[in-house]
Amino acid sequence: MKFEKNILCIGAGYVGGPTMAVIALKCPTYRVEVVDIDQDRIDRWNSDKIPIFEPGLDKIVKETRGRNLFFSTRIEKGIKAADIIFVSVNTPTKTFGEGAGMASDLQHWEKTAHKIIESADSDKIIVEKSTLPVRTAEAMERILKAGNRDIKYEVLSNPEFLAEGTAVKDLLEPDRVLIGSHQTEEGKKAAAALVKIYAHWVPKENIITANLWSAELSKLVANAFLAQRISSINAISALCEKTDADVAEISFAVGRDSRIGEKFLRPSIGFGGSCFKKDILNLVYIARGYSLNEVADYWEMVVKMNEYQKSRFVQRIVREMFNTVAGKKIALFGFAFKANTGDTRESPAIFVTQKLVEERAFVTVTDPEALDNARKDLESTMQMAPDLICFEPDPYKAAEDAHAVALLTEWEEYRQLDFEKIYKSMKKPAFIFDGRNILDHKKLYETGFNVYPIGKMQYTHFD
Ligand code: UDX
Repeated sequence: MKFEKNILCIGAGYVGGPTMAVIALKCPTYRVEVVDIDQDRIDRWNSDKIPIFEPGLDKIVKETRGRNLFFSTRIEKGIKAADIIFVSVNTPTKTFGEGAGMASDLQHWEKTAHKIIESADSDKIIVEKSTLPVRTAEAMERILKAGNRDIKYEVLSNPEFLAEGTAVKDLLEPDRVLIGSHQTEEGKKAAAALVKIYAHWVPKENIITANLWSAELSKLVANAFLAQRISSINAISALCEKTDADVAEISFAVGRDSRIGEKFLRPSIGFGGSCFKKDILNLVYIARGYSLNEVADYWEMVVKMNEYQKSRFVQRIVREMFNTVAGKKIALFGFAFKANTGDTRESPAIFVTQKLVEERAFVTVTDPEALDNARKDLESTMQMAPDLICFEPDPYKAAEDAHAVALLTEWEEYRQLDFEKIYKSMKKPAFIFDGRNILDHKKLYETGFNVYPIGKMQYTHFD
């Protein structure tokens, strides 16, 4: 079959895979190829068990794979054939040198730019999909223009706003699609080609075009604002624990103001995930680069508040369990950074486990999807204290003989557990720390537990 357009995506990760699957689904006349240097990852995309767990994704991949969606490691060939190239390689926070811990590590992205100039033999539209610091498109253009001057590259920024666990829904019904381009005639023409792809399923009014730099910065700002809301409500949760106020009532009352809105006001043990911390630190780094220290400090505080919330949670466990958890078994319910994903990147559970192990507690980790990742995240901690950590897929078994349960991820199945059965199997007094406020606290108290929610009244059987 002859396809109308060839789309290539470099990088078969959390963003590239689902995004291309949805484009392939909605644009059957386009050929979509996803390439990656990691053969193992590509093999998994081509297998029955695709490498990421996203509700609905499996079905879309099965429907499109081999029809107009392809996964391979043939990067050069893919570049040659493509009209539009999405670049979706990972850009982790730099771990070394200038800007370590804050700036984005752009080495994968830069290698990709070089790969494109080595392989391309016709004009290309390059779409930045990875979250990149502002003005990266400019650097990319410089590299591309250093190659064969007869070939024209037009760089677009099309930041991804999908959230894990709802990736397919976010792609099928996005609040908006943002496309940044140079405001030149060629730039606008390239943007129009990308608009045409999304217009297959996204209403025109939800496709926003902007200048390149605004699009790049919008991504960082959107994530910074979302994270800021969580840090704001978490700051208030600390105050609630000192007063008679209830953070859930506050979220509800405040969120009813239509100017504020109700979403992202759920208090928690802190936000995790691959984006929030990374993007805010990036914003902070950019602001410092322009000597805007107040701006940098302002946003950095969102991250500091998050660290504080995680520490507060562990300190409370230790304090309430009579100032020591040494030798006590603590079952951690959930390790993923949020429900419906096996992803544990920046998950607050990592910090909680490490701190409890430092306090010499016996930690049993349970999670329906994230145990493999948890094992990797805790490798170095386990080397130091191999006897103190174990993994158990069954939450009932994890809680057996435990002194406390700490709920860290808001998995729906944890709401449905038989807590009477759990209570009976635990050591007494039995403690439960609900880091997500999803359980019925009063009922747990009546069962016999001492219950510690976030930012709400605690229920204890002690005088
Ligand atoms: C986020 C953005 O939502 C998405 O638009 C962007 O593209 C990538 O980063 P993601 O990291 O997948 O997506 O998850 P998200 O649902 O935003 O949650 C992030 C963290 O905040 C999780 O740890 C979650 O549990 C926590 N959270 C979220 C809260 O603690 N309280 C809330 O009210 C909402």
